[in-house]
Amino acid sequence: MDEPLLSLRTHLDAVERFGELRHVRGAHWDLELGGIAELSYRLAAPPAVLFDEIPGYPAGMRVLTGSTGSPRRLGRTLRLGDDLDDAGVVAALRGKPSRWAAAARDFPVRPVDDAPLLANEVPGEEVNLLEFPVPRWHEHDGGRFIGTGCFVVTSDPETGVHNGGCYRMEVADDGRTVTVAAVPGKHGAQNIQRWFEREGRAPVTVSFGHDPLLLVLGGTEVPGGISELEYAGAVLGERVPVVSGPDTGLPIPAGSEIAIEGWLRPDHLRDEGPFGEWTGYYSGRRRPNLAVEITRLWHRDDPVLLGAPPGKPPHDYSYMRTVMKSAMIHDELAATGVPGVVKAWAHESGGGRLFIAVSVEQRYPGHARQVAHLAAHCPAAAYMNRYVVVVDADINPADPDEVIWAMSTRSDPGQDIEVLRQTWGSRLDPLWTEGTPARNTRAIIDACRPFERLGSFPRVARSEPEFLREIERKWGDQLA
Ligand SMILES: Cc1cc2nc3c(=O)[nH]c(=O)nc-3n(C[C@H](O)[C@H](O)[C@H](O)COP(=O)(O)O)c2cc1C
Repeated sequence: MDEPLLSLRTHLDAVERFGELRHVRGAHWDLELGGIAELSYRLAAPPAVLFDEIPGYPAGMRVLTGSTGSPRRLGRTLRLGDDLDDAGVVAALRGKPSRWAAAARDFPVRPVDDAPLLANEVPGEEVNLLEFPVPRWHEHDGGRFIGTGCFVVTSDPETGVHNGGCYRMEVADDGRTVTVAAVPGKHGAQNIQRWFEREGRAPVTVSFGHDPLLLVLGGTEVPGGISELEYAGAVLGERVPVVSGPDTGLPIPAGSEIAIEGWLRPDHLRDEGPFGEWTGYYSGRRRPNLAVEITRLWHRDDPVLLGAPPGKPPHDYSYMRTVMKSAMIHDELAATGVPGVVKAWAHESGGGRLFIAVSVEQRYPGHARQVAHLAAHCPAAAYMNRYVVVVDADINPADPDEVIWAMSTRSDPGQDIEVLRQTWGSRLDPLWTEGTPARNTRAIIDACRPFERLGSFPRVARSEPEFLREIERKWGDQLA
């Protein structure tokens, strides 16, 4: 059988060809995989790592980390090209998210009867998720998280539109069940809630290994009402093949390595957490969370689990999140019709959420502030943002030094910092306190020169680039 579309193995072949895949044999699922992965993220050119021969598990049962952690791997995942560098990925992505969103409905999923996934089927009562080498990623995690790079499918009970989301999932009951930690407000969580209100239970399917395109789309804020599987079709230019879960009718990507289907019920809860999170902190304490009543599991022979463990940035998916978020925020700002937005950047050190900088070509008084407010609340940025800094067009918002320079010299804290209150926060926030609603405050920092003074603001003490090029031609060898 040919590899189905969105097979993780096709991606692995490409990463191997790029020379970006490291094979690690014999590392233990208990903290060693997580530690090796963490070291890999801190390398100058972070590789993808494929773990095999994990003690206690048959050789061939593998775990992959770092699937999207380089421009080439991310460019390939997003079908933008196989040879892109950092700037190339960002440039190639510009404008694409809104086009993909608009085209998604032209790519309904394509049901198929056969897939390598179906090679092994396990009935619900025999399921043991710990037959797979599920890692304990971080020392103080509450348990073993099988779902990090996963793709969780729910549906809107009224429209039937599918939603694919990525939420952390901890194995419970010695492998018989697994929690799903979708935060309230996420589309998946809203679907589940609506099913609970209508039927008292919510259907769900989950893939635990697939082309990382599904990790990227499941893990990023694709606009509501659009199926991530159809959106993936728009990215690929082809309909995504899926098998239908016989119990729930929900789709499972045919390229999946390991998948389950089952039901969530409001009273089927298992303790979950804490987990080392993308903020760089462990989130909260152990508490009851929705858990799947698994009715069926399938897996390929020698399956590969797609891992994407977060942590203090840089982490497994921080590069992907920054690049995707930046493009989506830029697209959403452009779609509002507000002029002059040059570039948006969702900084990796802020987990791609907490710290956003936007550059703007100011056209009228109040323009910079307008862009800041829109950025702080556009759907791609609204969840758990903390700071939005708006800078002039001569500042590169992706360069922290330039942003700090603009903040230090063009903003007057008394006038240029505004605080927005009661905004969409999260229990993952290290500042959140137990027993309070998950809201936060966020600051807008207007680090643009005052519009009225654009003509008279002190000149930047820097030579013109053309002059410097000339000087370099003439004198450069003296500095070499
Ligand atoms: C690896 C990874 C893990 C994530 N874990 C969670 C999680 O546990 N809970 C959550 O609500 N969002 C989590 N997210 C973020 C969501 O996937 C993201 O907000 C996505 O847009 C949610 O999709 P939805 O709004 O369609 O439900 C995670 C993202 C990634 C990439």
